[in-house]
Amino acid sequence: MNNSPIGIFDSGIGGITILNSIKKILPNENIIYLSDNLNSPYGNKSKDKIYKLSSKNTQFLIDNGCKLIVVACNTATTNSIEELRSNFKIPFIGIEPAIKPAAIQTKSGMVGVLATKGTLSSRLFSKTVNDHAKNINIIEQNAEGLVELIEKGFFDGNKIEKKLKKYLFPMVDKGIDHLVLGCTHYPLLIKTIRSLIPKNIKIIDSGKAVAKQTKILIQKNNIESNLIEVKYLFYCNGSPKSLNTILNNKFAINSI
Ligand code: DGL
Repeated sequence: MNNSPIGIFDSGIGGITILNSIKKILPNENIIYLSDNLNSPYGNKSKDKIYKLSSKNTQFLIDNGCKLIVVACNTATTNSIEELRSNFKIPFIGIEPAIKPAAIQTKSGMVGVLATKGTLSSRLFSKTVNDHAKNINIIEQNAEGLVELIEKGFFDGNKIEKKLKKYLFPMVDKGIDHLVLGCTHYPLLIKTIRSLIPKNIKIIDSGKAVAKQTKILIQKNNIESNLIEVKYLFYCNGSPKSLNTILNNKFAINSI
């Protein structure tokens, strides 16, 4: 048993989609969430820079007593999880685009992946495609600019729609039947995405799988918490505006 918090970080508010899934299946756990929004977006940064930021975020969460770290960012996971695991003695959970389930389920053999440049160009992403989707047509799309808009508080409207149409319509024309949301920010656009693409296209993200994996790792390491009343703490190093919006002003945001 261990009542220390779970630590979650992202380059901004995207990881809140993961926090929501974790809260549901681990209701007795305290959680500390860190938004490194001062350095957002991570998507166009070098692997080295992404590792340095991820390492700093990890250290912050460890210093605040966390027992396990969830890297709630596909870009940070695909560019730094191996190095994080070898440099810190704490269990890590990462998130990667859900290529495997999409490859198993597709009938058309065409799968669209919306992600950042950093994720799509990573070695881990290529390995996942190679291991699980060798005979599938994976249509990759770098969704340049979406994270920036989301961090500014845009979840729908003209600006978001214009970008989404540009990124999604070519995939739809190619006949995808699955769309993988390979960035934790994109599920925040689900309503707009759903309204723009045909109903037969299944949209998948990795949120639930990550939460499940977190529970498994907590049980495996014997670090479950038995708290009746839990606490969620939120930190950011940039403006607290986006976190306040996504959390409906229900929590105090700590500035660091
Ligand atoms: N939420 C991050 C991800 O899953 C956003 C990346 C970024 O900051 O560009 O990839």
